[in-house]
Amino acid sequence: MLYHNILVLASTIIGAFARPTQDVLSFSKPRPLVIWHGLGDSYSSSGMVQVQALIAKIHPGIFIHAVYIDPEAKEDQRATFYGNVDDQVEQVAEQLKDIPELSGGFDAMGFSQGGQFLRAYVERHNDPPIGNLITFGSQHMGIADIPTCKPFDVLCHVARNAARAGVYTEWAQQNLVQAQYYRDPAQLPKYLAANHFLTSINNEVPETRNATYATRLAQLDALVLVLFERDRTVVPKESAWFGSYAPPPEEDPDDDEKEKILVPMREQPLYKEDWIGLRTLDEHGRVVLASCDGEHMHLSTECWKPLVEKYVGSPQR
Ligand SMILES: *[C@@H]1O[C@H](CO)[C@@H](O)[C@H](O)[C@H]1NC(C)=O
Repeated sequence: MLYHNILVLASTIIGAFARPTQDVLSFSKPRPLVIWHGLGDSYSSSGMVQVQALIAKIHPGIFIHAVYIDPEAKEDQRATFYGNVDDQVEQVAEQLKDIPELSGGFDAMGFSQGGQFLRAYVERHNDPPIGNLITFGSQHMGIADIPTCKPFDVLCHVARNAARAGVYTEWAQQNLVQAQYYRDPAQLPKYLAANHFLTSINNEVPETRNATYATRLAQLDALVLVLFERDRTVVPKESAWFGSYAPPPEEDPDDDEKEKILVPMREQPLYKEDWIGLRTLDEHGRVVLASCDGEHMHLSTECWKPLVEKYVGSPQR
């Protein structure tokens, strides 16, 4: 189950961005930004420091906060693999509330799993509120699988099957971060019974559906969903756009070889019945489906820069 999604900035030349003169002359400060890093990364990694420097070049004077679970980088990195995501989101909500610069609201960028964690913040807290939420290669409909094995790689198959068998145990659901957004369409009843994080933020369990989540998500100015076109880490990559595989036909739930059918965002029950406010947001033109031509979290300048120019650093409200 252990894949890394450390941010990789391709072709970044820090001096390459000119200062937009209107920002220098304007009196209003840009809206602050919060960034939540991905699995295997830490809030103070070189990639994270670099991306903040690049954003500050585009939006001079912007206040940027990188979310952490632990101020110690090694521990912060460890917390991307191990821990209870519900607790982590609570902790981050308190962290953000205590930062005076953020008290008027902010935009947010989530890298990979950080994207669905920030969405949880919006649905459960949003105090102070997020304006634009940009998620890069995030697993909004979970991951359906760990990357597949080659046909005769016995060790790989054994490890993969063990991971798949254990992912819905109570221990895994409390302690393994990825297990908390593992959603195998071939075992939906198991997932719905065992999972506490993704089922919650996606309002998938009718008995515990929380209307506040939908109200809060629909309050975003924009939800920008970025998919990596050559992503082989997130299965399926369309999870970044709220896509997932359809449950397999009854007769062969274990048949891995069958071609899987993808259910796109607008055909998901979650969307059609508007469990989380996504449809409301979309019908107001505030869901943006963007894509980057790259592998998982390989952010080229062409990919991230226009998004940062458009959705980050607008004048403070
Ligand atoms: C719904 O979510 C909000 C925000 O997390 C929480 O305060 C509230 O208690 C929840 N409502 C129910 C019925 O669980």
